[in-house]
Amino acid sequence: MCGIVGVVGNRNATDILMQGLEKLEYRGYDSAGIFVANGVNNGRLIKSVGRIADLRSKLGIDVAGSTGIGHTRWATHGPASKENAHPHTSATGRFILVHNGVIENYLAIKEEFLANHEFNGQTDTEIAVHLIGQLVEDGLSVLEAFKKSLHLIEGSYAFALVDSENPDVIYVAKNKSPLLIGVGEGYNMVCSDAMAMIRETSEFMEIHDKELVIVTKDSVSVQDYAGNSLERESYTAELDLSDIGKGTYPYYMLKEIDEQPSVMRKLISAYSDNGQVKVDEAIIKAVQEADRLYIIAAGTSYHAGFAAKNMLEALTNTPVELGIASEWGYNQPLLSQKPLFIFISQSGETADSRQVLVRANEMGIPSLTVTNVPGSTLSREANYTMLLHAGPEIAVASTKAYTAQIATLAFLAKAVGDADGNEKAKAFDLVHELSLVAQSIEATLSEKDSIAEKVEGLLAKTRTAFYIGRGNDYYVAMEASLKLKEISYIQCEGFAAGELKHGTISLIEDGVPVLALISSDEAVAAHTRGNIQEVAARGANVLVIAEEGLARETDDIKVVPVHPYLSAISMVVPTQLVAYYATLQRGLDVDKPRNLAKSVTVE
Ligand code: AGP
Ligand code: GLU
Repeated sequence: MCGIVGVVGNRNATDILMQGLEKLEYRGYDSAGIFVANGVNNGRLIKSVGRIADLRSKLGIDVAGSTGIGHTRWATHGPASKENAHPHTSATGRFILVHNGVIENYLAIKEEFLANHEFNGQTDTEIAVHLIGQLVEDGLSVLEAFKKSLHLIEGSYAFALVDSENPDVIYVAKNKSPLLIGVGEGYNMVCSDAMAMIRETSEFMEIHDKELVIVTKDSVSVQDYAGNSLERESYTAELDLSDIGKGTYPYYMLKEIDEQPSVMRKLISAYSDNGQVKVDEAIIKAVQEADRLYIIAAGTSYHAGFAAKNMLEALTNTPVELGIASEWGYNQPLLSQKPLFIFISQSGETADSRQVLVRANEMGIPSLTVTNVPGSTLSREANYTMLLHAGPEIAVASTKAYTAQIATLAFLAKAVGDADGNEKAKAFDLVHELSLVAQSIEATLSEKDSIAEKVEGLLAKTRTAFYIGRGNDYYVAMEASLKLKEISYIQCEGFAAGELKHGTISLIEDGVPVLALISSDEAVAAHTRGNIQEVAARGANVLVIAEEGLARETDDIKVVPVHPYLSAISMVVPTQLVAYYATLQRGLDVDKPRNLAKSVTVE
């Protein structure tokens, strides 16, 4: 959460910061600010509540300078206000700091070191920059003061610090929160995310936890907190600037929904050769050696884990257990003798998942990360990585990453099954089946107008809704309801169709929308039809999404059937469109729903 960008060198800092913040806005968008050092009045600090566009409207013509830092916030401590927006300044205004993360001991630091300081807002960040300022007042050099502060501060952080008296340097440090360096000719950058720097450079340098970096226009020096210099090579990232544009689409979400057939095809070319599935031998071996697979993830990625569970178990012959990353610390299941942890994460940065990975590494448990972002923290720190090849996903609501996660796990399951001589794997021609999935998605996408129309009558005004389904459709219902609620603000539950009558059916009354999912199997479909009757009898407004072959004339949305292992992929697409159109019709911002951020880097 939150985006940081900084630049030092021969460039127009304001322009770079604003462009960077616009690209980072998906990480947090309750307030934003920039500081640009220009030798006049210690530089200019501009902050604004709301979106980056609001900040842009506040820029004066005199914000010129070649060193600066910027921030887009997702509030953890104190409301979204101008005072709490970053950058924050030290007591005298000399030091300027942006921060992503949570300083756990900020109150203790305040009490012990800053008893007579006055603060503008309520953030933990302000304590950190006051501390640095105070330590310099006490006689330490800037570097020593920064280092000492890093020793005192507990929690998660990515920091970028500027000393307005020496604006040729940006001091950087990180622990748990993401941050990397962008290397340029005559300038260097610091940023939460490579994508936001790609217009300026494709050369990057990683920073690891508990490292401090001194960045000037032509040098980047990395050291540990003890002051030992560390060698760090830069690398070239293969990112395409056009991938992060919206093109002619009104919203990223719609573009990303539409990209799904091509993502399926990209996965086929990434994970197969002449019809033969190809997955890294070491990953296959890691699964074969495991006696149980533990999938750990959050939100949509957690739902993708469910959608892949039955297939993984059938093809690898290994039990699969799922854990919500944020609950793992309290509700960790009894571990088997030879566990393999599989982290599913679009961003590869989710703090909840990462804390489990850190523990797994301490315990020596092997791990695989399934992620969309090469070089992300979860990818770097796990033993193995499988990439989603979905291209950058910008909309907060995840769509193409979810379907790519299931497809990627299908390649894993099939590759292990083939290596084991598993009969079910032999009978499952994944490459062919996935190309049919791409066609099925295309058929659904061609029905957008009719889906939009059906949604209008059903969801434009409602406060609540339900998705119901059985088997894999239940897992899709979980994801479909998360999608709908996160962007349209309709309170929606994804329910196992048969479970509804055990209590929750009491919420069904006249006009409550119930969206039923029917795929895969005649017998299961018959049971779900029974549940549809039960809610309809109590006044529910039912919309049925069914696979052709199981569908009835009167069903609302028909989906071209695919292999049952992959049905979650084709069944989820109409529900993504349902969420998209419901949100449009309710006049809301599809890509940036309130209170959310794309990359959840706080625990
Ligand atoms: C998806 O629509 C959500 N915004 C959210 O649930 C997301 O999937 C979750 O935060 C996990 O993120 P990750 O996949 O990047 O780890
Ligand atoms: N904890 C800081 C705040 O509340 C940083 C939050 C963020 O990561 O955006 O301002």
